[in-house]
Amino acid sequence: MKESASLKGRSLLRLDDLSDIELFHLLNLAEDFKRKKRLGIRGDSLRRKNIALIFEKSSTRTRCAFTVAARDEGGGAEYLGTHDIHFGKKESIIDTARVLGRMFDGIAFRGFKQETVEQLAKYSGIPVWNALTDDWHPTQVLADLLTIREHFGKLKGLKVVYIGDGRNNVANTLMIGCARTGMHFVDCAPAELAPPAALCQEAAAMAAERGGSVTVSTNPLQAVEDANVVYTDVWVSMGEEKKFEERLKLLRPYQINMDLMKRTGHLDDGQVIFLHCLPAFHDYHTELTQKIGPLEVTDDVFEASFSRVFDEAENRVHTIKAVMVSSLVA
Ligand code: CP
Ligand code: NVA
Repeated sequence: MKESASLKGRSLLRLDDLSDIELFHLLNLAEDFKRKKRLGIRGDSLRRKNIALIFEKSSTRTRCAFTVAARDEGGGAEYLGTHDIHFGKKESIIDTARVLGRMFDGIAFRGFKQETVEQLAKYSGIPVWNALTDDWHPTQVLADLLTIREHFGKLKGLKVVYIGDGRNNVANTLMIGCARTGMHFVDCAPAELAPPAALCQEAAAMAAERGGSVTVSTNPLQAVEDANVVYTDVWVSMGEEKKFEERLKLLRPYQINMDLMKRTGHLDDGQVIFLHCLPAFHDYHTELTQKIGPLEVTDDVFEASFSRVFDEAENRVHTIKAVMVSSLVA
């Protein structure tokens, strides 16, 4: 029997919930939605569908991408900050899930524990999408893969180097995404912030089956050699604010600057791009960087012609649209 590419009726809680066929189907669907939106064509595949957005943590891109994607396809999205609802306070998360499951067609959840998004999926009875937890950020990596494929016309065989906090939600998910698409992924971080060994083993096996590889490095100068994608994220993720001083000390040598980008050997041939999930501390326009300067990436790299960070941000809407339509319609 042919394996279905659709997620009909299913949730997306981690990227490895998806089969290879489903992952590529979502990227193709997203590409199609992007092309149509450019042409001014809006669909109605989410007509009369209502989406709840339960957010425990702040968000610009993800919140807006879910809202705009739902509206573009004729649906509606309701933002529910957890300070405004009885989530886990006057009633259990399980009860909230059961109530929202009677009213809405899908739920996007951003928050701390992975267990919470799993509970929502289990008890609501409707598709639930992980909009970022402490452990995973699957919708981000779908947009990253689309952005890489747009630039290079392929994924398999490319070298992706993630540099920074090597064990955060984005690093973990990117590792799985690259492994699943046969890329060569290097997670470059100080030993204190190395990714979990079990995850690396799982991802390395997955990559090897698909002609790729997963390795860990502590040396950014070596790691970036021949890289096609250099990727970083904030040094302190939401919920870890107390670690700020410690992270600054550990990660200063892992800043992405022009000298490091030159080490890829690809600045002149168009075979390298810079990605960041955003928000980024790259200029002097935030209260923090006014005091201590850029952190994970310098402004010249962020603004360079090889930087694709705003394509990547835009691609959140197209990929999230693909996920919602695939889960709710076909
Ligand atoms: N990349 C990302 O998830 O951005 P937001 O935190 O703005 O949603
Ligand atoms: N690792 C970051 C990603 C933000 C999109 C965080 O969790 O804060």
